[in-house]
Amino acid sequence: MNVSDTEVVWSILKSAGFENTNSISEADIVLIVTCAIRENAENKIWERLTYLKGRKRARTKRPLKIGILGCMAERLKHSLIEKEKAVDLVAGPDSYRDLPRLLALTENNQTAVNVLLSLDETYADVVPVRLNEDSVSAFVSIMRGCDNMCTYCIVPFTRGRERSRPIDSIVKEIQKLSDEGVKEITLLGQNVNSYRDTSQESFSLGNETKMAKGFKTVYKTKKGGLRFADLLDKVSLIDPDMRIRFTSPHPKDFPDEMLQLISERSNICSHLHLPAQSGNSKVLERMRRGYTRESYLELVNHVYDIIPDVALSSDFICGFCGETEEEFQDTLTLIREVKYSSTFLFAYSMREKTTAHRRYKDDVPSEIKLRRLSEMNQAFREVVAEKNETFHGKVQLVLVEGRSKRSDKFLAGRNDGNVKVIFPSIDIPVEFQSKTTSVIKPGDYVSVKITGSSSQVLKGEPLYHSSIPDFNKNLCEQMGLNHCKLSL
Ligand code: 5AD
Ligand code: SF4
Repeated sequence: MNVSDTEVVWSILKSAGFENTNSISEADIVLIVTCAIRENAENKIWERLTYLKGRKRARTKRPLKIGILGCMAERLKHSLIEKEKAVDLVAGPDSYRDLPRLLALTENNQTAVNVLLSLDETYADVVPVRLNEDSVSAFVSIMRGCDNMCTYCIVPFTRGRERSRPIDSIVKEIQKLSDEGVKEITLLGQNVNSYRDTSQESFSLGNETKMAKGFKTVYKTKKGGLRFADLLDKVSLIDPDMRIRFTSPHPKDFPDEMLQLISERSNICSHLHLPAQSGNSKVLERMRRGYTRESYLELVNHVYDIIPDVALSSDFICGFCGETEEEFQDTLTLIREVKYSSTFLFAYSMREKTTAHRRYKDDVPSEIKLRRLSEMNQAFREVVAEKNETFHGKVQLVLVEGRSKRSDKFLAGRNDGNVKVIFPSIDIPVEFQSKTTSVIKPGDYVSVKITGSSSQVLKGEPLYHSSIPDFNKNLCEQMGLNHCKLSL
């Protein structure tokens, strides 16, 4: 999310005539895009700020200005300026368009603040400037904010209410990325699959939102608008050789038509992030997640039924207010049962303003949180190591990202399920059964036979260059599969 915000900020500043530099000594102003979701994330920013304040004091000729942008700016507002005298500019996540004006104020040695949250800002017309133009993948922001109010989470307070970017502006941006040769896009939003474009009158007449069985929300069912499945449908038709991913979804918004679409379209990756947060129904209730362990598992099984080869990932928090040892054991059993391909594991950190801050006590000692964190990690590693072994002997389509970090002789990429795949950098046939060979470059799709694995990566031998439609056609023909993703 911060990468995407930085790209929007940079686009706005570039249009206003600003230049960027990688060197602090050349800079007139340093802007830090921040996250406030956990204490750790904020601590890193405080450390950075202390360092920058030192650089600012040490400057003798040109002054150095410091600006804090994003969620931490929203959360700490004036205290950042009053207590941290060195901060010259504070801009919340909905104020980036105002940055040229705010920066002009700092030139006159004024402190500039804009932390107003908006009901409709989506930066729809701002074409983000990609920070890493060589990357084969790009992020596309499709909605902002969150209406869910999980009791532990600060996001609804720092990023405001849910609002979606009109479908046409998303399609236009993705078409442009495809024309530039980008091979994979990740649709981004705090609740990406709660997407609802009501920008055109004719969209507003639709039926009400269908939720997964056993799921509920704190807000009234929303009616009308073009939904995430409509967006996925349109976006996946832009370029059949461009992979579509999305993050971060909420498990409540996975209607059958969306799952069906994912199972049918070969360029929509069979990878779903289903953030469970806990495996215990009582903890889930205290977290106000709107589902029980049982309904979550029912959804998982339903997803496996419709998309049998799906790779699942999840977020988990340990040590939430009042979490007993027994309740925590349910999280471990869920991690083992679902067999995720990847997980993001966190120790709970209490955030001011949240319902948990008002209603509950942060009563799990930090050493117990850390022990539980390492137990979650261990449970996940054991299961994923076994899961990765099931790939041995199978052929995977890999989008090549670049050289492996460990050795120049190897390349790294990802399979459809977003698992990292490492393989030797050698010349291979230009396509299936061809005699001509060519080098493998970043951005190529390569069919790779998996020969080994660890809990973190798959290892394999590259076979031939391919494309998403060709790979699926070949695979289906070779295996005589009935269930075959549609080649567009
Ligand atoms: N403490 C720890 N983890 C948190 N997350 C959100 N709020 C907190 C918190 N207060 C985690 C959740 C969420 C991910 C983005 O961050 O797991 O899905
Ligand atoms: Fe936070 Fe819950 Fe919204 Fe996710 S769904 S951003 S965890 S409040």
